[in-house]
Amino acid sequence: MTEISAPDLTLEEKASLTSGADFWTTKGVGRVGIRSVMMTDGPHGLRKQAGGTDHLGLASSVPATCFPPAVGIGSSWDPELIERVGAAIGVEAAIEDVAVVLGPGINIKRSPLCGRNFEYFSEDPIVSGVLGAASVRGVQSQGVGTSLKHFAANNQEFDRMRASSDVDPRPLREIYLRGFERVVKDAAPWTVMCSYNKLNGVWTSENPWLLTSVLRDDWGFDGLVVSDWGAVNDRVAGVAAGLDLEMPASGGRTDAQLVEAVRAGTLDEAVLDTAASRVIDLVRKAGERPAVSAPLDVDAHHTLAREAAGRSIVLLKNHGSLLPLAPEQRVAVIGAFATEPRFQGAGSSLINPTRVDRALDELRAVGGDNVSHAAGFSVEGGAVAASGRSADELRAEAVAVAAAADVAVVFLGLPAAEESEGFDREHIDLPAVQLALLEALVEANPRTVVVLSNGGVVALPFADRVPAIVESWLLGQAGGSAVADVLYGTVNPSGKLTETVPVRLEDNPSFGNFPGEFGHVRYGEGLLVGYRWYDAKGLDVTFPFGHGLSYTTFAYGDATASVEADGDLRVRVEVTNTGDRDGREVVQVYVAPERSIVQRAPRELKAFASVALAAGETRTVELVVRREDLAYWDVRIDRWVVEGGEYRMEVAASSRDIRSSVRVSVVGDDVVIPLTLSSSIGDVVAHPIAGPIVMGALGGFLGELSGADSSAASMMPNDEAMEKMMASFPIGRLIGFPGVDVSHEQVEQLLAAANAGEVPSE
Ligand code: BGC
Repeated sequence: MTEISAPDLTLEEKASLTSGADFWTTKGVGRVGIRSVMMTDGPHGLRKQAGGTDHLGLASSVPATCFPPAVGIGSSWDPELIERVGAAIGVEAAIEDVAVVLGPGINIKRSPLCGRNFEYFSEDPIVSGVLGAASVRGVQSQGVGTSLKHFAANNQEFDRMRASSDVDPRPLREIYLRGFERVVKDAAPWTVMCSYNKLNGVWTSENPWLLTSVLRDDWGFDGLVVSDWGAVNDRVAGVAAGLDLEMPASGGRTDAQLVEAVRAGTLDEAVLDTAASRVIDLVRKAGERPAVSAPLDVDAHHTLAREAAGRSIVLLKNHGSLLPLAPEQRVAVIGAFATEPRFQGAGSSLINPTRVDRALDELRAVGGDNVSHAAGFSVEGGAVAASGRSADELRAEAVAVAAAADVAVVFLGLPAAEESEGFDREHIDLPAVQLALLEALVEANPRTVVVLSNGGVVALPFADRVPAIVESWLLGQAGGSAVADVLYGTVNPSGKLTETVPVRLEDNPSFGNFPGEFGHVRYGEGLLVGYRWYDAKGLDVTFPFGHGLSYTTFAYGDATASVEADGDLRVRVEVTNTGDRDGREVVQVYVAPERSIVQRAPRELKAFASVALAAGETRTVELVVRREDLAYWDVRIDRWVVEGGEYRMEVAASSRDIRSSVRVSVVGDDVVIPLTLSSSIGDVVAHPIAGPIVMGALGGFLGELSGADSSAASMMPNDEAMEKMMASFPIGRLIGFPGVDVSHEQVEQLLAAANAGEVPSE
């Protein structure tokens, strides 16, 4: 099998290899021993459909451990944890003989409305990239491949199979592609999955710029590109652009199109050979994994799921240290989510869990009879609950139970039908019935803790009125026990927000440009995605990006920073656990150049570390900011550029809790922009070769212009103003002005020589 390569196959065999046999498997070529392999979802556990197949999760799949979806586990900011979970998913995939797990999904959370945000890590590309790479490393450590998805700029579900994401080059590179670049370079996923949408008017499934120039030529990707399920528009154009495998099956229709295109000479056979070779290579890699016969250790993986879920919980607020609870306190558990947990999102990632923990049971396991319960509302939010009791009756019962307790713990959240793959939310509010219940409960018992279950951010209009808020996202099958661990303090919460909780949806940067119209989504906010926008606009937020509390406290020393030999920046800071409990802190480094020639956000996350600190312990935390992460994308020359100068490095506990700042001086990249007649006098004067010559030739003229008696000077307030005006004056327009004694040809020769790096003789 290993010796087989594409040229050994017939044209028909090559074409057939590059599309699926059915929903989940590739086609084999029995004649030469190429076997068929299975690819299946992903990402937060295995969804291998046993019988009937469909990609929307309707047919049930073999039981597998449901780990926290990305919205949860991303809040751990811990690549080591995510790698361990990835390895466990890899083990489960290997047991089921799955070659590729379809994940992770690392699209940027551009709007809180995206129905699939629960499957994505963050509004920030460094977080998405670092955590996505960890996930890939983990799964692939078991000899199982991954599929990094959805490539690219697939940031909404509405019209996802038709709309064009219209993104300018800088945000595209700096925000939407940066995470993908990081994962490809750091972790080499076996496959990348192109998305459904168009990017700047071109289907991603047939976009040669995206699939070949960027992914392979720039980033060095040498794996296979698979289509999202049903994303192929024109198969021949797709293969020519760098799409290797169409999934699922096309019934042979599009295979025949490839054969025909090669015969007609409209598709080079060598291009098809390349695609087929990549499928063969994938099959070979999958074949290198030894068969696994051991059964799944359900308990061990559930324990890991519990650990991961505990690490995913974000303590947003804990006024007066209301949490953790003590077992002897009388605790009223209110809310349907305590008994009917929402632990994952709907769609293709829906896992059939091996078991599911319920928070009420787990709280009772600790607090026993001290834990009372009332449903409070029906999850569907209807006026009349399934039990036949009205919303008023349910509320009255809950209020009575809360009033009789020392502390009320209210489980609020979004009904499953509100967030799913395939459509977006229309608002970010919790159901009105739940908000009304909460008002009544706080009135009855001010010592109220809110526990949230939601895959996308929700508005928290009550944030000032309740003393404690626990964001428990969607936590996977062990979420119920993990919540109990955190509420009773056996686990000290350490999660932090990977996305901003805005005051209002209207404050979000994509507002007005989401979800687009008539097939186009204009990414009008440009670079200012997430916290970059709220900071640039000076907007209040309910909870900032990077925020999360602990039952202990952390003190930061003064940071120091240095530039390493390879150009990376090393930041060091002492962090002390100043409380009496062991805990974990996510230390963050935000960076901004003091001056820049391009637009910059006030601060951008560039490094982070999750650090375990015993009570009283001090550690020096070292964080590395990669030099390449300082770069902006220069649209003039189509490449990354690190600007020279002073950079402010902020060591922080959140994007709005900066603990220490330090400056570091960075040597910039050499950037010489080719000169043209449209180049400004400022650009030409700054050019190392042309500058001195032009100053010599024009010096007199420029001096005359700013002289007190010239007519030009009389229109400007002073020399400085005149210099500023001239700095952006195109050099070509100056030729022929009275006093400018150079010809068009002379200037053109000078520019050509300067661009070629030659100093003209005269
Ligand atoms: C989703 C992918 C998924 C695929 C297979 C598509 O609808 O967008 O994320 O991997 O189906 O289920």
